[in-house]
Amino acid sequence: AAPTRYEAENATISQGVVESNHAGYSGTGFVNGDNVAGSYVEWTVTAPAAGTATLALRYANGTTANRPSDISVNGALVADDRAFNPTGAWSTWATSTLTAPLQAGTNKIRATAAGAGGNPNWDSLDV
Ligand code: GCU
Ligand code: CA
Repeated sequence: AAPTRYEAENATISQGVVESNHAGYSGTGFVNGDNVAGSYVEWTVTAPAAGTATLALRYANGTTANRPSDISVNGALVADDRAFNPTGAWSTWATSTLTAPLQAGTNKIRATAAGAGGNPNWDSLDV
């Protein structure tokens, strides 16, 4: 099936704000997390059946340094310190794709800043 888009601005945000000052986002904005380790965005996604899903995270990193993030599904770490490398500008968005097991029904997918620089800016998650 075609993926469903879940916007970051509609997700649960811990230590961050919704902004729209960098172009190129989908929906109504993106999430600018506080530049600290531990800030996160958590999406609630629905899967029709249990199984391996493709998760596509759209992000921007206008710095010159990696912004690693821990990706978890329902509390289980599925990608430790996943690299979200510089995209060249805050208005240049890239997609990082991984696979992870989902359960049937509701799933919580969280991206937690793993470094002191915080997360990249998040636009959306496609599942
Ligand atoms: C800038 C940019 C923000 C970004 C921040 C950061 O302030 O405008 O969108 O989140 O840098 O370094 O994280
Ligand atoms: Ca930030």
